[in-house]
Amino acid sequence: MNTPVRTIVVTGGGAGIGRAVALQCAARGDRVAVLDIDGPAAHSAAAAALAAGANAALAVECDVSREESVVRAFEEIAASLGPLYGAFANAGMDAGGFVHELPFETWKRVLDTNLTGVYLTCKYALQQILKTGAPGSVVCTSSPGATVSFAAGAAGAYSASKGGISALVRCMAVDYAKYGIRVNAVVPGATETRLMWANVEPSAMPEMLRRICEEVPLGRLASPEEPARAVVWLLSDESSYVTGSHLVCDGGILAKACISV
Ligand SMILES: NC(=O)c1ccc[n+]([C@@H]2O[C@H](COP(=O)([O-])OP(=O)(O)OC[C@H]3O[C@@H](n4cnc5c(N)ncnc54)[C@H](O)[C@@H]3O)[C@@H](O)[C@H]2O)c1
Repeated sequence: MNTPVRTIVVTGGGAGIGRAVALQCAARGDRVAVLDIDGPAAHSAAAAALAAGANAALAVECDVSREESVVRAFEEIAASLGPLYGAFANAGMDAGGFVHELPFETWKRVLDTNLTGVYLTCKYALQQILKTGAPGSVVCTSSPGATVSFAAGAAGAYSASKGGISALVRCMAVDYAKYGIRVNAVVPGATETRLMWANVEPSAMPEMLRRICEEVPLGRLASPEEPARAVVWLLSDESSYVTGSHLVCDGGILAKACISV
């Protein structure tokens, strides 16, 4: 199926899964807006997107947890790249801790970035897609933590934020279906990015990697390009009858019971 040239915005596009999505959209000739709180990373990804074949690429330094920052970014996108077709609401962070000791500030930072950030991205993306009067596609990044508790524990804030994203995706899918706007979630498993190791001491990394490879049914971490391919499919017409769904790209984690007997 031939996909027309479209404008796609990617939050957290400066690194990891977001950057991989920006580059894969670029390779199919889209116009790509890369938003990231890390301005230089956004600029580097936008330059790489142009080199990969993007019709146009825009970098915007944007903190998705702050409404004025998101508003400004979407104004820039409309002015530079024209009508919006799709959004990948993906920017996220992880800070662990058991609830009885978790500082309120940490809880708020995780929820503000992950859940409020997705809400704000979707709010302004949907406004722009609705203005076009044409169909669109929105993909949000959830996690296995939305459905099950991580065995390592101390992931309450992160998991709560991802559970919220999953609920929001289902609500938006139903609310915007009548406009031809599809809303789905991608569920990456353990993926080799900076965030994957956010709560791990460098000295503990080799042992953790060994255990992940032993316990994940596919026996390895994903590369960022692997969940990215699932996202690009959801952003394409190939998935034209898919909305409200969770596309699990986790190497089999969620399919596996935690007890070994
Ligand atoms: N890596 C994994 O194992 C894994 C698994 C499941 C879900 N996820 C989710 O995938 C998404 C992408 O993470 P990643 O693994 O590619 O990590 P990453 O750290 O490589 O990328 C995250 C990007 O988000 C940006 N970001 C952080 N806070 C931001 C903010 N307030 N505003 C704008 N940008 C911000 C960072 O600067 C970074 O470029 C996250 O939502 C994460 O929760 C990751």
